Order: sequence, then structure tokens, then C-alpha cells
Amino acid sequence: MLGNFSYANPTKLYFGDDSLKSLNTELPKYGKNVVLVYGGGSVKKSGLYDEVIAILNANGKTVSEIAGVMPNPTIEKLYEGMEIARKANVDLILAVGGGSVCDYAKALSVSVNCDEDPWEKYYLKFEEPSCETIPVGCVLTMAGTGSEMNAGAVITNHKSKLKIGHVFADEKIMPRFSILNPNYTLTLPKYQMCAGIYDIFNHICEQYFSGDDDNTSDYISEGLMKSLIHSSRIANKNPQDYEARSNIMWTATWALNTLVAKGKSTDWMVHMLGQAVGAVTDATHGMTLSAVSLSYYKYIMDAGLHKFVRFAKNVWNINTDGKTDKEIALEGLSAMENWMKELGLAMNLREIGTTEDMIEDIVNASLIMEGGYKILTKDDVRNILEASM
Ligand code: NZQ
Ligand code: ZN
Repeated sequence: MLGNFSYANPTKLYFGDDSLKSLNTELPKYGKNVVLVYGGGSVKKSGLYDEVIAILNANGKTVSEIAGVMPNPTIEKLYEGMEIARKANVDLILAVGGGSVCDYAKALSVSVNCDEDPWEKYYLKFEEPSCETIPVGCVLTMAGTGSEMNAGAVITNHKSKLKIGHVFADEKIMPRFSILNPNYTLTLPKYQMCAGIYDIFNHICEQYFSGDDDNTSDYISEGLMKSLIHSSRIANKNPQDYEARSNIMWTATWALNTLVAKGKSTDWMVHMLGQAVGAVTDATHGMTLSAVSLSYYKYIMDAGLHKFVRFAKNVWNINTDGKTDKEIALEGLSAMENWMKELGLAMNLREIGTTEDMIEDIVNASLIMEGGYKILTKDDVRNILEASM
């Protein structure tokens, strides 16, 4: 276990099929002006929008709306929302949707009272807010990002072909409360369910494939991965299985609510590649990760061989008898590949709309992280992207 750290996570979670009524407990804690943020219409179709509006009305709230937050929310949409939230004199931002809606609400929270340009301040200079931030609450409809219990907010700028995540240092940017009702995820198209599952898995990998120390986090991560693989197989056969979808939702939260990153180094290079692909193609986040993962892990495997062996043994139950470390590690990755194929994930970049002429823009948009087993050069990034085509 490495270093010194502090740990606090202030997000209050309400989990289960009865959890929406907890809005009645939370809403009285905030002023009367609520900005309700949602996506492209799934919440209206499912009836959740009407339920939330009824609870807001019953609590005497004045509601303004920011509708149509798109997957991979854009900076232009953020500017539009800032106007609405300022006019509303917002006291609470209530996000009802997936990670995009939740991320957007946090980006809005730090931008409403900010005099500077949020793209410049938060996404290019990575500064922390110097203005008063607005509390955020979240009703989650998709399991994947962990946005419901972290301080991350990813925003896309199509003009500059960049998709950047800022994980704010101050835990008050995390949602004050999040409502996690697995039933809400049952209406997700299977493609999105599986993209979310791989997003969860890769969040764990990003924090697992790094470091040489003996670390409690790695044991927790192995447990989370095993639970996710198990539940994903059940949900893949029967997406309506409430228990499997509950476990997936809960695993998503723990995969990226800062716990398993504590006291250890982390990688995040698959996400940097995936986000760069997303910036150029606007593809679904989880699929951008699955498309580059295997090439990336094969590329860096020798540099972190001991961990890939451990992954093969402890997560995929690979029989090690008479095999070299490299053979064991490769068998682990091939078990992961088979599982990814079972879920119907994108296995290469072409499947998600990437063409050769985009590669250079993706290389340019890829930020390099330094916590993994191999620090990549831009040439390494190009090699991995070409191997992922
Ligand atoms: O817009 P609507 O109509 O709601 O449709 C959405 C969207 O089209 C739909 N959907 C969501 N819940 C649904 C549903 N459809 C039917 N029934 C439901 N219950 O699913 C589509 C995808 O939704 P989105 O919110 O975009 O997906 P996700 O939760 O994967 O969020 C992706 C965004 O989060 C960022 C990604 O980069 C991306 O921008 N991330 C945020 C992170 C964080 N805060 O820590 C970390 C992640 O690594 C990730 O980067
Ligand atoms: Zn992710």
C-alpha cells in the first residue's frame, strides 16, 4: 500500500426499487429553484419524468428544465444550460439520466457562478472552481460511469476535437445524493447495457493494472470484476433479471467512487485513448474502450507481466500448470476477449465508425497518463490505434 491519503465520499445513496421516494427526504434541504436536467427523451418514455415532476411539485419547487443533454455532452450545450440555470437562480441541479446527464450537471454546477470560460478553466487549464458551486442530485437511469458518486465531468468540444474529463479535487462537486433504482436501467437498449458493463469493467482495470505493491484495493477490484462478469452473463441472457441488474448497478458505483484508487497508482490510458476516439467519432463511451483495450493490454503486457498473470489466475481462473508467465497472461486476456465477444462489444475501431484518416486526429487528442506499466509515446499510441482497426 502506497503513500498518504485522505478519503471522504459525501454522496448519500438511496438504492432499490423503492428509492425514488427518498427525493422527499432530500428536496427540503435545498432552496426552491430546481433545474431539472435530462437527456434525449428516454425518461419521458419510461414515465420517470412525470414521477419526478410530481415529487418536485409536491415539495413546492419551481422547476426549470434543461432537456436534450446528449450522450458525450458538448461545451455548447453547457453554455446553453448556464443561461437557463442563471436565469432560474438555481438552488439545486437535479440530473435524471445516465452518466452524460450526471456529468453535465456537475459541469453546470461549477460553471453557473463562474466568470471565466468553463472550457478554458476546467478542461484546458484543469483549474478548480473559484466560485460558489451549486449542489447536484442524481436519479440514475444507466449503470456504467460511476458519475453518481464521483466528482468527474467529461465534456466534448467538437470544434477542437477534444473530449476531456475533469475529476474535481473537491468532494463537494460529487452529487449530494444519488437515487439508484435498478428498475430504471431495464429500459436500456442492450447495446447500451453492454457498453455500460464494459465501462465498469475497464474502470476497475484502469485502477488494477498499475503498481507493484501489495494493495488491498487490488483484492477489492478482483472481487468487483468477478461479480460483474457473473452478473453480466446473467443479464446478457435475460436483461430483465432484476438481481443481476442490481449487482451491475452497485458494482458500477464502487468501480469508480474513488475507493479502489486510494493508496495506489492508476493507469487510465485506455480511457485516454477511448476519449480521443470519442472526440473524433462521437461513439458510445464503453464501445470506444472495448475497441482499443485488447491491443493496448497486449502492447503493455510485458511491462506489467506479474499483474497480468495475477489477473488471469484470480479473475479468469486460468489453470497455470506447466505454463510460462507469458502464456498464462495471454490466456487471461483471451478469456477476457471471449467474454467481450459474448457481450457483443465493439472489438475494433472500424465497428464504431473510425476510418484511417481519423487516426492522426485521435493521436493528437490522446492525453498521456503516467501511472500505468508503460508510459506511451505518441508513436506507441499510433501503433495501438492501428492495431485496433
Ligand atoms: O438521452 P436519453 O434519451 O436519456 O438516452 C440515453 C443515451 O442515448 C440512453 N439511456 C440512458 N438511460 C436509459 C436510456 N435509454 C433507455 N432507458 C434508460 N434507462 O442511453 C444513452 C447513453 O446514455 P449516457 O448517459 O450517454 O451513457 P453513460 O452513462 O455511459 O455516460 C457516458 C458519458 O459519461 C462519461 C463518458 O465519457 C460519456 O461522456 N464518463 C463519465 C465518467 C465519470 N463521471 O466519472 C467516467 C467515465 O469513464 C466516462 O468517461
Ligand atoms: Zn469510463
